[in-house]
Amino acid sequence: MRKYIFISFLLIIFLLGNIICKNNSINITNKIYKQKNIEVNYPHFKIENIDNYIDNYITSSINLNYNNIFLDYDYNYINKNEVELTFYEHYSANNILKLDTCNLNINLRDKYIKKNINKKDKDVQYNFVYNQKIDKTKPIIAFSFDDGPNYNTSKLIDVLNKYNARATFFVLGSKIKGNEKVLKKMVDNNMEIGNHTYSHKLLTRLTNSKIEDEINKTNELIYNVTNTKPVLFRPSYGSFNKKIKEISNSPIIIWDIDTLDWKYHNSKMISKNILKKAKDGDIILMHDIYSATVNAVDQVLPELIKQGYQVVTVSEMFYYKNIVLEKGKIYGSAK
Ligand code: NI
Repeated sequence: MRKYIFISFLLIIFLLGNIICKNNSINITNKIYKQKNIEVNYPHFKIENIDNYIDNYITSSINLNYNNIFLDYDYNYINKNEVELTFYEHYSANNILKLDTCNLNINLRDKYIKKNINKKDKDVQYNFVYNQKIDKTKPIIAFSFDDGPNYNTSKLIDVLNKYNARATFFVLGSKIKGNEKVLKKMVDNNMEIGNHTYSHKLLTRLTNSKIEDEINKTNELIYNVTNTKPVLFRPSYGSFNKKIKEISNSPIIIWDIDTLDWKYHNSKMISKNILKKAKDGDIILMHDIYSATVNAVDQVLPELIKQGYQVVTVSEMFYYKNIVLEKGKIYGSAK
């Protein structure tokens, strides 16, 4: 019985691949269409796999129901009429995120597709870069929030939205139960979810299998709620050693600005601290579980924006800085 399920699964995947790459079944429009499990965009990892990377100014998505590829672009930023694009489709199956790539040569002005090449399926984990025009000549900064989610997290997402800012939330697996709605709200608002272990133990004191448990359990819980797996890992207390680097299947993200929000619980002090230290490429550490932090973000964002800062997720910042994150490596800033 299981064998048949597997075979029909393969058949479905094969059919989907054909639909995507069939020349005459694809219409191009300049609208963007989002569908929960099928969204195509430029990944911030594997930049080397993109044949023609057009300077952040083009995104796309595939709507399988209508066999359409939707391209979202601005002629103003595209010099060539014809571009070769690799589309990444991700879908979930058996708790694994699968990735299909489809390579198309597209004439943007006449809106036709010249050729297509099907590439091999791969199993990967990656997030997507939210479609927003980031000005690379202006400073970019990443906000990161640890130890949530809790009742304050939802308020914080609203504050970030108010200023069109985004952030990475390094969540604890043990805090997910009861806060599923908050996790979904993160995804719905284009925030990034990172892994911050299950129970916030000091990993350097644990055995290999316990460390793996702490990471894997949290990844699974996040996946069960949001249908996406985190790409980034931040060990509890930001502490790591050689063993943790080897075990981690993700890039390890620490920070270079510590707001000490957990210590002061004083929004004015926290926001002052950020404004004093902020530089292009910084990763700022905060905790979404405190109301003082939520208020601090509300105070600091308009100031940072006034200074020209673009506040994004950790993955986005590295993407826009053209830094490819590698698993097991430590990153404290994008400089
Ligand atoms: Ni923490």
